[in-house]
Amino acid sequence: MIPENFIQDLLARVDIVDVVERYVPLKKAGANYSACCPFHSEKTPSFTVSPSKQFYHCFGCGAHGSAIGFLMQHAGIGFIEAVEDLASSVGLQVPHEERNTEIRAKKAPLTELLARAMAFFREQLKASPKAVDYLKGRGLTGEIAAKFALGYAPDGWQGLQQVFADYNDPALVECGLVIVNEQGRRYDRFRDRVMFPIQDQRGNVIGFGGRVIGEGEPKYLNSPETPLFEKGRELYGLPQARKAIQEEDTVLVVEGYMDVVGLVQAGVENVVATLGTAATDANVQKLLKQANRVVFCFDRDSAGDRAAWRAMEVSLGHLADNKIVEILQMPGNQDPDEFIREHGRAAFVEQTRNATRLSEFLLRELVKQTNPSTAEGRAALVHAAKPLLQKMSAPILRVQLTKEIAHRAQVSQAEVEAQCGLKPLARSRYAPAQMKQRPVPSSIEYKLLQILLHKPEWAASLPLDLIDRERVEGDALVAIADAIEHGELPAGGFGMLLEFFRNTPHEALVAAIAANMVEEVDLGALEAMFNDSVTRLRQTANETEIKRLNARAKDLTAEERKRLVELLAKKRPGAPSTGSTPI
Ligand code: UTP
Ligand code: MN
Repeated sequence: MIPENFIQDLLARVDIVDVVERYVPLKKAGANYSACCPFHSEKTPSFTVSPSKQFYHCFGCGAHGSAIGFLMQHAGIGFIEAVEDLASSVGLQVPHEERNTEIRAKKAPLTELLARAMAFFREQLKASPKAVDYLKGRGLTGEIAAKFALGYAPDGWQGLQQVFADYNDPALVECGLVIVNEQGRRYDRFRDRVMFPIQDQRGNVIGFGGRVIGEGEPKYLNSPETPLFEKGRELYGLPQARKAIQEEDTVLVVEGYMDVVGLVQAGVENVVATLGTAATDANVQKLLKQANRVVFCFDRDSAGDRAAWRAMEVSLGHLADNKIVEILQMPGNQDPDEFIREHGRAAFVEQTRNATRLSEFLLRELVKQTNPSTAEGRAALVHAAKPLLQKMSAPILRVQLTKEIAHRAQVSQAEVEAQCGLKPLARSRYAPAQMKQRPVPSSIEYKLLQILLHKPEWAASLPLDLIDRERVEGDALVAIADAIEHGELPAGGFGMLLEFFRNTPHEALVAAIAANMVEEVDLGALEAMFNDSVTRLRQTANETEIKRLNARAKDLTAEERKRLVELLAKKRPGAPSTGSTPI
């Protein structure tokens, strides 16, 4: 992925006229440039490039787009390639790629050291009956030990000297295998422990967890954070589980190394573990990329309950409506490894089938915390739900939950939405397009959209509450207003706007309107059109309200009657225009 703000920086730096001119000779024609269209054959030029809009358009064949779009279309290359090409033409580096290669080069020697250590630990396991017996005693076969490359770090201060001729190499300290004490003496971090190598997605060893054999403190010793190993990002067992995760379209997440290895031993293979930390955003993102269903398994104790709540909170921010996250709280006092050893594979699988949906878990826990059988409890329920609802990224699921919470709190859905400061669904840039109808070019919203594509910043003064969000064009308007409000849409002409909407539901509509955008418009006329449309928007809203009030003319409250008179007065020709004053 290329960060969005890089695209914006890039478009701000390049001039579409230069870009097009690299391939097509342009002639100045008024404020624009014109040429014979490179995308279809013609004798008189109908291809126009607008420097102020940073946009090209052909009146003959309808081709149009930004500088990026031009390169894609003209050179027949993909988006990323076009971005790279443009970036190098103005001396910019596409950030993502650059960083990756640099980091990889720095990591390679450390990975190599860890791989050699892993091979050594595996050899040592074969030579240690004590360690082998320990693993056998925990029900593991040689096959599973090999699958996870389990090993043994021998007892002794400098065992690794047998592997690394230069034991003083600072890289051994950097990758976490060797510790230097205050006197400058060096010794192995892992001694007399069963070793669990931690691998990244590609299978490179990036760190170790070492378990004491039998009783002892600490039970597990882990690699420190190193350039290779960031605890909060990694998932133990991922390369081994990948195939099973794909087959089941489900990933189980457990808390410990032994839970992973124990479940795989019993035949449940789609399992990974977080590394002794609560689930992080990076974990959840990675998990949701692997499968459409993620089941977190936690021990049923106070630490496990806290971890479950935390996993729920984190997951809310990454959910999509086609993804499922579930929480499984293990029965009894057993962790998954203990459970499956005692009850077997079928019983464990049955448990995962009955895991609690995230929404159900959230609701259940909130109700437990707030007790909505009293008025105070119901208020507390909405209060406690607020940060969680705000965090939710899955729009439809959020509506479902909002309804549930409203129901239990005995208030309306709209009240929960207002109290929690939730934006209506359609305000999301990524609201599903299929829910909307086709655009209607005669609608006020369509007209406004045409105007705003010239001057997006005017969206800030749109009366958003009067816009019909059920219309695609209304939805796009709100998306522009949203982007302006959040400072996401820098000035940069129409080309910038097109790129901003690439891969969103609004892309097609915005591009369709673009067809007539290249001619220079008179700003004064445009502004008059904008004000006129906004006035029409207000008038339509007034008329709808008048109709609604008139329909119940007989039983209007005094308040409502007053309002009707006001509205009718506004309707009279010659009445002062509502202008930009709010109704
Ligand atoms: P647990 O204490 O639940 O152990 O730690 P476990 O997984 O059941 O291990 P066994 O069955 O006793 O061998 C869960 C995870 O927390 C981290 C480890 O990642 C461990 O797998 N942990 C635990 C540590 O890092 N250090 C510790 O001292 C204990
Ligand atoms: Mn355990």
